Amino acid sequence: MRTQVGIVGAGPAGLLLSHLLALRGIDSVVVEIRSRAYCEARQRAGVIEDGSVRLLREAGLAGRLDREGLEHGGIYLQFAGERHHIDFRELTGGRTVTVYAQTEVVKDLIARRIAAGGALHFEVTDTEVDHLESERPVLRYTDATGVRHEVTCDAIAGCDGFHGICRLTIPPGLTTVREREYPYAWLGILADVPPSTDELIYSHHRDGFALHSLRSPTVSRLYLQVEPDESIVNWPDARIWAELARRFELPGTGWELKQGPVLDKGITPMRSYVSAPMRYGRLFLAGDAAHIVPPTGAKGLNLAMADVSVLAPALDALLSGDDGPAAAYSATCLNRVWRATHFSWWMTTMLHRTPGADEMAAELQLSQLRYVVSSRAAATSLAENYTGYPPVPAPAALAS
Ligand code: FAD
Ligand code: DHB
Repeated sequence: MRTQVGIVGAGPAGLLLSHLLALRGIDSVVVEIRSRAYCEARQRAGVIEDGSVRLLREAGLAGRLDREGLEHGGIYLQFAGERHHIDFRELTGGRTVTVYAQTEVVKDLIARRIAAGGALHFEVTDTEVDHLESERPVLRYTDATGVRHEVTCDAIAGCDGFHGICRLTIPPGLTTVREREYPYAWLGILADVPPSTDELIYSHHRDGFALHSLRSPTVSRLYLQVEPDESIVNWPDARIWAELARRFELPGTGWELKQGPVLDKGITPMRSYVSAPMRYGRLFLAGDAAHIVPPTGAKGLNLAMADVSVLAPALDALLSGDDGPAAAYSATCLNRVWRATHFSWWMTTMLHRTPGADEMAAELQLSQLRYVVSSRAAATSLAENYTGYPPVPAPAALAS
């Protein structure tokens, strides 16, 4: 078999890349170990930056997002029994974010690739990438019926997430890894109950962080800081709701957390990780395959989309004999990746309770929070990072 770009992984990075390449007339084959149903149901991110929305719109992918996505012009920061609004629109000259679940982005992308006749193979096993230093790298996989395939490509995109195989094929001496693990995790729930808030609430509490997000006018998404090795069996629904209610409570205001049936729950570890460079020969890593941020800044999905918006034109140029943009790919992406890595680390360490931290550390966190909600300069810094920095969408993902 022959294709121009072999893509490993049908997450947001792999699917969007395949679509952006198709818009440029470039063929790809996408292989994915999970089933279509699993990919469409996996609960993950929910906040899409301005630039990512614009990218999806320009790529003709925003029909449902424009109808069902909820535009948010700010967030609430809560600490010490006070809730403060950070007004993104006012602080950044009109920039916003859109609440639209990653599951919906993935559903839209899969439907579009299938409607366009794109090669998208689910439930593959034994994925391998080979001959990466040659001009004809190879992608091998076994399809769902047990037939082994070998696809000769011009380039391979490793979009297979943090636990994928592509990053591991790069000889260890050629990459630099920067990593930090955090001493806490997030327990996330999806609940069949209208949100108790109009905008997201990030709450710092002495017993741990909590986040109130949403998916629609009738479905809420909430997160709780828990121990890093916590087991979900220790968290029956009643305990989750009691802990959430405590961490969001605002005595004397009449505000109450609405509770409802839990539709999904899971625990996510927290890690910062950057592997550089994001290219080895004709293998290009994109999204979580190359970098992970803790979710507090809502950046993971947006970084995955930003990477492939740079990769699509770079591959287009490479396939026409110009290696310039491909040579710049890693450095271009890492600039945004490191900004998001810093912002996510900053939000995370400002808002979570660090086990064993002393009163000095707690006072420093509170001082930082007070500064953010009282200084226009500090609030603007949060607002411009949260809505996406650099603010301009990555260069011409679509133009030929
Ligand atoms: P992924 O979405 O991980 O996609 C990679 C795909 O590759 C997967 O479908 C995987 O099955 C497939 N794959 C792996 N190995 C192979 C193989 N060998 N062969 C073929 N296919 C393979 N970000 C936020 O901004 N906010 C959040 O709240 C948030 N919550 C998260 C919760 C969880 C549990 C996780 C894991 C991540 C979360 N993230 C969040 C991060 C965000 O969801 C990711 O950054 C985003 O999914 C990255 O997209 P991606 O396409 O790079 O990787
Ligand atoms: C969501 C997740 C995040 O990590 C975040 O910072 C904001 C919202 C969400 O799933 O809705």
